[in-house]
Amino acid sequence: MTAGPPIEDVHFADAPQMNTSIPGPKSKKLLERQREVDTSAVSYPRSVPIALDEGRGATLRDVDGNVFLDFFAGIGVLNVGHSNPHVLDAVNAQTEKLVHTIDFPTEARIEFIERLNDIAPSGLKDHNKVVFGGPSGSDAIEGSIKLAKHNTGRNAMMAFEGSYHGGTAGALTLTGGRKYKEGYDPLLPDVRHVPYPYPLRERGNADTENARAVCPAPNCCGDLSCGRALERVQAAVEDPYAGQEKPAAIWVEPIQGEGGVVVPPAGFLQGLRDIADDNDVMLIFDEIQSGFGRTGEWWAAEWHGVAPDAMTMAKGIGGAGLPLGAMMYHEDYDTWGPGGHIGTFRGNIPAMRGGIAAIDYIESHGLLDHAVELGEYIRGRLREADNDHLAEVRGQGCFIGAEFVDGEGKPSKEAKGMVKDIQTYCYERGVLVWTAGRQGTVLRLLPSLVMTHEQAERGLDIIVEAIEAQVD
Ligand SMILES: Cc1ncc(COP(=O)(O)O)c(C=O)c1O
Repeated sequence: MTAGPPIEDVHFADAPQMNTSIPGPKSKKLLERQREVDTSAVSYPRSVPIALDEGRGATLRDVDGNVFLDFFAGIGVLNVGHSNPHVLDAVNAQTEKLVHTIDFPTEARIEFIERLNDIAPSGLKDHNKVVFGGPSGSDAIEGSIKLAKHNTGRNAMMAFEGSYHGGTAGALTLTGGRKYKEGYDPLLPDVRHVPYPYPLRERGNADTENARAVCPAPNCCGDLSCGRALERVQAAVEDPYAGQEKPAAIWVEPIQGEGGVVVPPAGFLQGLRDIADDNDVMLIFDEIQSGFGRTGEWWAAEWHGVAPDAMTMAKGIGGAGLPLGAMMYHEDYDTWGPGGHIGTFRGNIPAMRGGIAAIDYIESHGLLDHAVELGEYIRGRLREADNDHLAEVRGQGCFIGAEFVDGEGKPSKEAKGMVKDIQTYCYERGVLVWTAGRQGTVLRLLPSLVMTHEQAERGLDIIVEAIEAQVD
């Protein structure tokens, strides 16, 4: 039996549809009230000033009745769309019965853990444990830090330049982005950040011979940025004079999200796996943004056929945008005693029901394949845009980035300004897009997997027009 309505039926019709100039009068009022009462830390409405009323699928309606096409999906959370009816039915039924359960067994909890096992990557499938802590991705990362330290007895950690792992102290420690952590030192001690391969930015990257000369991997993929990154990782782990103890674990995003939708070359994750295995170091994949179907596999690392020792997840796994963070780890690391990892909200069963229903919906409607096709189509359209500043379009499935550079090929303020202008141009015409990148020079699209081909076509007409409007 098909779960819920077809994807064509879950949206507001005819998006985008603008009834007022935007922000409209009611949005303006709410934005003004927000400025009066809310924190100065509010950020999203500064780039996209609208007040929201209702969401359906890949569409959002603001309080003035303007309907937007959403290529942003609550920053990669709403993989089955806003208010997916199949998911909401499951969540509402659970909410009426029981909501808060800490970690007492419930049908919902046990079924969710079993369903996560069904979609686990090989290597973890049938050999894993799932732990819930606090409700956010950052909480899941904190849990993974504890898991690695507890199991290895080591304190040092390794993460990557360009990474983002969250806003709590441990997660900030692992994060590469300085703007998030400046002013909060000292965080956790003994973290080392090493280069993440960034093929676009590596001079002479096509030089496969040179790649083979530096790359420690037996099956070098021929990408110089990858070879250089693995060389640095290996040295930092193995060199007796590396200046720091061997790390407990290496944390890596299989695709860097905030860092600019940077897709690593084919040999990178396997190279990390080999170095970790050779040195008894845990390998932890942060699938918080890249996972739960976003790339067209359940987990982005599956594209590389590489299994981690542990994997963090959050964002989409609550189905309807309900907060839920979790970590799946290999059963060999299941060494905590009772209460070894805790959190009052580790039993959010409406969110778990939402997660189960989202898995049903994705499977029942073939949304992994759809994500692959939709992503290919969107990247193809972006590549056709006529703008010499568009340096690269990349991504996997519905995790999409388009990087811009200035006239000298640099990720400068000028390039960042261009991406901001594209975002504003789209917003004014009813299309919501987001940004990313170390210098803010990447246009990031994270459409929900329920977006139809026709919606993508309409949205891309506007996005491509926005990109071409930047040409002087
Ligand atoms: C890769 C990655 N890890 C961790 C986090 C932190 O998740 P949360 O914001 O739910 O704490 C994010 C959030 O964007 C993320 O993209």
